[in-house]
Amino acid sequence: MLKGRHLLEPMDLTTKEIDEICLLAEKIIDNPKKYRNVCQGQILATLFFEPSTRTRLSFEAAMLRLGGSVIGFSDSSSSSVSKGESIVDTIKVISCYADIIAMRHPKEGAPKIAAMNTNIPIINAGDGGHHHPTQTLTDLLTIKRAKKRFDNLTIGLCGDLKFGRTVHSLVKAMLRYPNNKFIFISPKELEIPDYIKDELKEKRIEFMEVTKMEEVLPKLDILYMTRVQKERFFNEEDYIKLKDTFILDKEKMKLANKNMIVIHPLPRVNEIHPEVDNDKRAYYFEQVKNGMYVRMALIMKLLGIEE
Ligand code: CP
Repeated sequence: MLKGRHLLEPMDLTTKEIDEICLLAEKIIDNPKKYRNVCQGQILATLFFEPSTRTRLSFEAAMLRLGGSVIGFSDSSSSSVSKGESIVDTIKVISCYADIIAMRHPKEGAPKIAAMNTNIPIINAGDGGHHHPTQTLTDLLTIKRAKKRFDNLTIGLCGDLKFGRTVHSLVKAMLRYPNNKFIFISPKELEIPDYIKDELKEKRIEFMEVTKMEEVLPKLDILYMTRVQKERFFNEEDYIKLKDTFILDKEKMKLANKNMIVIHPLPRVNEIHPEVDNDKRAYYFEQVKNGMYVRMALIMKLLGIEE
């Protein structure tokens, strides 16, 4: 039962609950009209202390498409946070107005603090370099629709694996399914964190780390591209040195399996050349659409709205 629960990291959901959310998202995709009033009278608050296009607008579009309403801010400088109000007080106040909150914050753990101070569901819409569980649901729905399974997959994750919270969340989610293998493609400076490698070793899950994508492309079922996260660097020089380490283009796509899919949480900067967009293996804009439907399903589940 998901009613009234928080979603702070992907592991807050069992694999069965993920299946249920994806199933409902697919029902909404097939018959959106059926769901257009199910959240009438309910209010979603979107509190974004960090920039966003997809996550905030897909949450808002999701609630509006379910017949609900939306309040919130996209820039904390326009809220009383700029006067020194604490997260705890902000959450206690918004909880008086809204039925559910989606919150993005640059500090890891901020949504957890929020969850401890409210009696309405908190959805983590990204906290620093930590987690981004609704992006993971988006990725999972995209994988389910493209690959028809969550197991027996070789998943390449490429780019900024150190700061990329969507990478951390996706690995944590996918390692629960049998026979998945992970190939981490990154420069040494942006390697996947040790705590994730330790968990993979402990669970005897196969993984490898490489610094070039060409050598592994033919082995992949899924290529998860990510941008180098400029906002997490302490100095610009380091960012400039690393930002264009990987650029997926038509030539590299020739090396990939014909059934491989390319996904990306977006925004992209240079890491996927626009010439790849028309390749039938490019799923990243389809993924954006899935993000709205899966958030519709999640909002319904957390509010306890029956179909
Ligand atoms: N994927 C994602 O989180 O995009 P935004 O930062 O635009 O929300």
